[in-house]
Amino acid sequence: MSYNPFSLQGKTILVTGASSGIGHAIAIHTSMAGARVIINGRNVERLKSTFEKLNSGDHSYVVADLSTNEGIARLSHDLPLLDGVVHSAGINKRLPLKLISDKSLTELMQINFYAPVLLTKSLYKKKLLNQGASIVFISSVAAFSASLGNIMYMASKGAINSFMKGIAFELAESGIRANAIQPGMVKTHLSSALSDEDIEKDMMRYPLKRYGTPEEIAYAAIYLLSDATRWMTGSLLTIDGGLTLR
Ligand SMILES: NC(=O)c1ccc[n+]([C@@H]2O[C@H](COP(=O)([O-])OP(=O)(O)OC[C@H]3O[C@@H](n4cnc5c(N)ncnc54)[C@H](OP(=O)(O)O)[C@@H]3O)[C@@H](O)[C@H]2O)c1
Repeated sequence: MSYNPFSLQGKTILVTGASSGIGHAIAIHTSMAGARVIINGRNVERLKSTFEKLNSGDHSYVVADLSTNEGIARLSHDLPLLDGVVHSAGINKRLPLKLISDKSLTELMQINFYAPVLLTKSLYKKKLLNQGASIVFISSVAAFSASLGNIMYMASKGAINSFMKGIAFELAESGIRANAIQPGMVKTHLSSALSDEDIEKDMMRYPLKRYGTPEEIAYAAIYLLSDATRWMTGSLLTIDGGLTLR
C-alpha cells in the first residue's frame, strides 16, 4: 500500500453546496481520496452532474434548500453515520450600508450562517457525527479583510468563524473537531460578477498573481477531513495566494 496520511478511505463525508464551484470540487476530490460522499445542492441537474463525476463508490445525493427548516430536516433525515461534513453552500450579495434591507440580510444570513449552524445542530442531536468526526466550514478572508459593499458577507463569515470556534470547544469532549478554511478569490459562479478586465486587474493584488482554483480549496478540505489533522481543532486555514499578507 502506498504512503498517504491524507487518505479518506472508509470515511463517509457530507458535502453541501456540491452542485457548483468549491463544493463541487470538494465532492469529487474527497471521493478520489477514498471517501463515500453524500452531496447536497438545490439544482437537481447540476447536483446530478457532480454525482456522475464522483469516483466509483456507494455515493448518494440529496436535493434540499438549506435556507429552510424543511430542507435541513430533509437532508438530515436519512443519513448514515458521518466521519466528516463540509459546509460549502453559500451566496454573496454586495450592497453598501444604506441599501441593506431586512430581506437581503435575512436571505444572506439564512444560507451563510443559519444553515450551517442548524444543520450541525441537527446532525449532532441525531448522533450522526461519529467519534473523531471532522466538520469543515468554507469561510472567507472576507471575515477579517474589508472590501467595499461586502458588509453582509463579511459579517456572515465572521459569524461562522466564531460558531466554528464555539463548537470546536464544546464538542471536543465528544471527539468531534471543527475548523474553517478562509479562501481568497476563487474562480466560481459566486465570484463571476466582475468583468474579465477587472479580474485581470484584481488578480495583480495577489502576491501569487492569480485567483485560486476550487481544487486548491478541495485539497485543504481533504487535509482537514483526514486523520492527519486529528489534533487540529478550532483553526482558521487561510488560502489566498498571499493576499492578506499585507
Ligand atoms: N468563490 C470564491 O471566491 C469564494 C471565496 C471565499 C469563500 N467562498 C465560499 O465558498 C463557498 C462556495 O462558494 P462557491 O464559490 O463555490 O459558489 P457557487 O459556485 O455559487 O456555489 C454555491 C453552492 O451553494 C449552494 N447553495 C446556495 N444557496 C443554497 C441553499 N439555499 N440551499 C442549498 N444550497 C445552496 C449552491 O447550490 P445550487 O447551485 O444548487 O443552488 C451551490 O452548490 C461559499 O460558502 C462561499 O462563501 C467562495
